[in-house]
Amino acid sequence: MATINNNLITYQKGGEKKQSIVFIHGFPFDHKMWDLQIDHFKEHYNCFTYDIRGLGRSPVGDGQFTIENFVDDLFGLIDEYKLTHPILCGLSMGGYIALRAIERGEKMFKALILCDTKSEADNNAGKINRANGIKEINKSGAEKFAENFVQKCFAEKFINNYEKEYGEIVSRAKASAPAGLKGCLLAMAARTDTTDYLPQIKLPVLVLCGEDDKLTTPDVMKAMADKINGSEFHIIPGAGHVTPVENPEFFNAKVEKFLANL
Ligand code: MLT
Repeated sequence: MATINNNLITYQKGGEKKQSIVFIHGFPFDHKMWDLQIDHFKEHYNCFTYDIRGLGRSPVGDGQFTIENFVDDLFGLIDEYKLTHPILCGLSMGGYIALRAIERGEKMFKALILCDTKSEADNNAGKINRANGIKEINKSGAEKFAENFVQKCFAEKFINNYEKEYGEIVSRAKASAPAGLKGCLLAMAARTDTTDYLPQIKLPVLVLCGEDDKLTTPDVMKAMADKINGSEFHIIPGAGHVTPVENPEFFNAKVEKFLANL
């Protein structure tokens, strides 16, 4: 664990001379959602992950976040560790950050992995939903909000069969600072739409979606993948929105094959 760029908490495993991969987690999670990927890939890759500002152990600061700040943090990490052409892998909100980072500086990267995410910005219903989330945090507290939100992310199968793992994920999300959660909700509501950039992407792109993902459904993700020239799209069987946690074997196998062909 290291602290960089105004106290951002980062984690690194793997050898310095190897190709680097930066994993960006989703909301309202933390870096630990990538544990099973980092364990798997650290032998052959230099793996980085971090807690997005306001979540996990990274500081909340004034809680005024934008996706642009989050991309600045990512660029800060790349700069700090002097990474040359890292592979970027983002899930959901991490994918919003990755897509905007690619739009801002595609040449910095080697390849892109988009998991359970989309390029469209929030529509009006989505923005109202974020506002209701903020109201819920103000009224009932961060714990209740996090518990309800996390439940929507996972397939029933995982919740029922992996009680301990699910319980740990919920506990960590519930420990989030209210201002951090609200800052992320506002940042997501205010994010730009990156759809127009998709046909311009020249990097190799892998798109992965949980079969039972209700937040970013397979049809939405397939439509996004179709707009990216030469992209590879796979559905992760039996998984909801948090594919690297819910079906790590299938997820890792697809990523491994994609990386081997770069
Ligand atoms: C996430 O997993 O990061 C969130 O579901 C993203 C969102 O709420 O749009």
